[in-house]
Amino acid sequence: MKTVTTLDELWAERANLAGPVGLVPTMGFLHEGHLSLVRQAREECASVVVSIFVNPTQFGPSEDLATYPRDTDRDLALLQAAGTDLVWTPTVEVMYPPGFQTYVEVEGVSAGLEGERRPGHFRGVATVVAKLLAAIQPQRAYFGQKDAQQTVVIRQMSRDLSFPVDVVICPTVREPDGLAMSSRNAYLHGDERAAATVLYQALTAARAAFETGSRDAETLRQIMAATIDAEPLARRQYVSCADPLTLHELEGPVDSALLSMAVFVGRTRLIDNLMLDNA
Ligand code: PAF
Repeated sequence: MKTVTTLDELWAERANLAGPVGLVPTMGFLHEGHLSLVRQAREECASVVVSIFVNPTQFGPSEDLATYPRDTDRDLALLQAAGTDLVWTPTVEVMYPPGFQTYVEVEGVSAGLEGERRPGHFRGVATVVAKLLAAIQPQRAYFGQKDAQQTVVIRQMSRDLSFPVDVVICPTVREPDGLAMSSRNAYLHGDERAAATVLYQALTAARAAFETGSRDAETLRQIMAATIDAEPLARRQYVSCADPLTLHELEGPVDSALLSMAVFVGRTRLIDNLMLDNA
């Protein structure tokens, strides 16, 4: 496994990689969710590239950029064990050199849900992912369903900008009690860790209702909201029952829907989602 930082080093190593090349973009502090992406890339591609970059442009001014957890040595050991060929760890100066002034804005699907609560977030995500795709030129790029809106935004961007890449979405990896794996789970202290299971409980309560015939979008939102509100350590930011393609909020009876939510547990903001499909 090679580790590179500059663009020149990246391009020199990229030229030696057999195709198809699979890219797993990450912000580091890797967990089983990231490693499942690396393993799927390993199965489907001749070469696997992983990027580790805590991207400042996708953090809002009051968000956790400065405290975002980092452990590059541990990350590199995990990536080596998972069979990664090349790791790119660019610095902020490599990604955003002085004078940088080009950003990617995906309209429409970026507007609601996370985009509404985190203004500028998806502009930062789309910009950095476009740069990663342009620099690495993978045939396949792997993302987790955990960040559901991000997957929709990246698919849209890749199509709109004609990137010759297959965007592959992999299932959310969960702890045994249902909590979706996230680097931000490291912020949960004491009782907050147990309370954080309320997101998955809310999603599965709504799914159980859907499967026994409750198809009304507002009823599903109310079931999720009531489950979260019953947990004293949790504060609901939003719950959503949206069209999986447009991400528009649904009303009335639904056949397929993306259930999603953002919930503060203590001071930690967690998101999770589940896809409902009647097919
Ligand atoms: O999902 C993430 O970790 C980040 O948003 C990504 C895709 C690596 C872009 O910084």
